[in-house]
Amino acid sequence: MRIGFLQLRVRFGEVKANVRRAVSLLSNVCDATIVLPELFNTGYLFKNLKELDSLAEPVQRGYTTDQLRKVAQKRNLNIVFGMAEKHGRACYNSAVCVTSKGKIDVYRKIHLFDREKLFFAPGQSLKVTAAPGARLGMMICFDWIMPEVARVLALKGAQILVHPANLVLPWGQDAMRTRCIENRVFGVTANRIGTERRGTLNLTFTGGSQIVGPTGEILVSAGDRSDSLKVVEIDVAQADDKHVTTANDIFADRFPAVYKPLTLRDPRR
Ligand code: ACM
Repeated sequence: MRIGFLQLRVRFGEVKANVRRAVSLLSNVCDATIVLPELFNTGYLFKNLKELDSLAEPVQRGYTTDQLRKVAQKRNLNIVFGMAEKHGRACYNSAVCVTSKGKIDVYRKIHLFDREKLFFAPGQSLKVTAAPGARLGMMICFDWIMPEVARVLALKGAQILVHPANLVLPWGQDAMRTRCIENRVFGVTANRIGTERRGTLNLTFTGGSQIVGPTGEILVSAGDRSDSLKVVEIDVAQADDKHVTTANDIFADRFPAVYKPLTLRDPRR
């Protein structure tokens, strides 16, 4: 199967322009699973809740989902993208998967980064979605810092970690290589480039989008200067073999009974 990323420069608040640009670039590709950045339609640095509320959309029947669902069906794509989701009175930092068959699935970011905590409600569950061709484990940006996320997704059967991102710290890409090695899965990180300035706030996104194989090899990556659409062919069944040596299967070798602290909020107490 073919998997890829669309690395983008995003203009804050210009939802229609951001979506149009993504749709136009996606019209150059077909028959693939493509990941877009976190919050790719709105931008990242919201000034206040009112501003977020005015830009967030429902996933079902929202403008962004509708546009991407159309291109997914037309080009035989599965597309995973990040957006600000409005659900009742809450907003979530969500990853949406629209498949070539029209199915829609959503993951709401659990581990919110820095100022995101002022705006978004955290998600409550991890999601592996069955898309045509592969089982996709959905995670968003700073979720990389919790190894439990990728591990749980892999244990739930994910073959590919799909990772919309707005990475600003220098470690995310390297950490994702480790997440792939320790779970023997593929990983697709789609990051932004450019600097977003909002009054006294500014952030520079690190680019470096990448596709990683189950032994941590970088199959393809992007720089930090330009929009980039890259696709590679993979044998996704490689992610089903958890052997590191003939004697070591990383899932069979686990001792869950000794990992109990992982399930406690503060095991030091
Ligand atoms: C991040 O989680 N957007 C850094």
